[in-house]
Amino acid sequence: MSKIQVAIIGGGPSGLLLSQLLRLQGVETIVLERHTREHVEGRIRAGLLEWSTVDLLNEAGVGARMMREGLAHDGLELAFDGRTHRVDLRSLTGHSMMVYGQTEIQKDLADAHAASGDHVVWEAENVAIHDIHSRRPRVTYTRGTINHEVECDFIAGCDGFHGVSRESIPKEFITLHERIHPFGWIGILANVPPVAGELIYVNHERGFALCSMRSRSRSRYYLQCPLDDDISNWPDDRFWDELRARLPCEHANGLITGSSIEKSIAPLRSFVAEPMRFGQLFLVGDAAHIVPPTGAKGLNLAAADVRVLSEGILEYYHRGSETLLDEYSNRALARVWRATRFSWWFTTLTHKFSEETFAHRLQLAELDYIAESAAGAKAFAENYVGLDETPRQAR
Ligand code: FAD
Ligand code: PHB
Repeated sequence: MSKIQVAIIGGGPSGLLLSQLLRLQGVETIVLERHTREHVEGRIRAGLLEWSTVDLLNEAGVGARMMREGLAHDGLELAFDGRTHRVDLRSLTGHSMMVYGQTEIQKDLADAHAASGDHVVWEAENVAIHDIHSRRPRVTYTRGTINHEVECDFIAGCDGFHGVSRESIPKEFITLHERIHPFGWIGILANVPPVAGELIYVNHERGFALCSMRSRSRSRYYLQCPLDDDISNWPDDRFWDELRARLPCEHANGLITGSSIEKSIAPLRSFVAEPMRFGQLFLVGDAAHIVPPTGAKGLNLAAADVRVLSEGILEYYHRGSETLLDEYSNRALARVWRATRFSWWFTTLTHKFSEETFAHRLQLAELDYIAESAAGAKAFAENYVGLDETPRQAR
């Protein structure tokens, strides 16, 4: 049996970022990831970072490529009722957002680990957690045909929504809150220039659409689709025609189309598990909460959890205090619930729920309020750029 200070389950963005921050401060970790590095880096997911996430990646020493290649966005467009309105995030909040794909963050983190000689165990199978309530919990796993056992002080459950960590907590000690939204998003990635310089969120009678990007030559577009829809129903031509139909004329006319390089359907779910700590096990990121992607909060919440947990673990090792660790769940959940509310609200504001005209007119009235009222715009913008517990420095 080997010994380590912190065992991290899951080598997604949460797990690798936590490990990187701890390693820089002299805390030893092991990361156990079920898949290969190539598989994890190939998953097309989030693409929009709050500035607090940008700051954290820089603090972790993995931000150099992001600062060179990422695109800072000072605003976004809302399209509704045949018109578009630009929300100037920067002038309303002092903050911008950063376009930089999760795939790239994942690569930067894995490169930093590889360069430090640190050991991420890719393809770790049968990961199981033991003795969470003792001061020396254990993690067992298999690699190839060999069984391993690791004793540690803390376990970080960074293994996403379908991982083992949350499942290891006895049901009577955890409360699950969930809402499945009655539609999904079909997303495509294509090597074509984005239709506009900033993101466009579209409320349309045919359903929601989002124009996003990964770079100046790579676009990411999404359409609201039925929950039970199948990717085979969406050849590229149908996707582009439907997107064009939902976009305002000026953008529809300028849309450049091309072959998709990735296409997938994702369900929209709101989910929170609380508390986020059980004994020596701490749940982090998607293992504890999921938001619909409408406000781009998923990855940013995961990074915020990592910040709070890393501060707690470092305080424990450097000053012998468990105060911050004891506060982890409450501090993380305060932000999680604010983001859960915002993501739910922004989803209800922009998606088509029924043919009912009353609900649609209410959506348009609320979007109009954001467009016309300084208070409405500010409330939207400060939630979108991320509500922090502590004020952070303007860029
Ligand atoms: P994950 O990225 O899920 O990483 C968990 C890791 O744990 C994975 O690598 C997994 O292989 C590993 N793992 C799981 N079980 C085990 C086990 N038993 N043993 C060992 N390892 C295990 N957010 C946005 O902001 N915008 C978006 O557009 C967006 N799109 C998304 C699309 C999809 C399909 C999904 C699933 C999520 C999307 N998200 C989006 C959310 C965002 O990607 C997540 O919030 C983010 O990935 C959370 O990071 P994480 O490290 O907590 O979890
Ligand atoms: C993305 O680029 O994938 C993206 C951007 C903004 C969102 C959701 C997804 O709100």
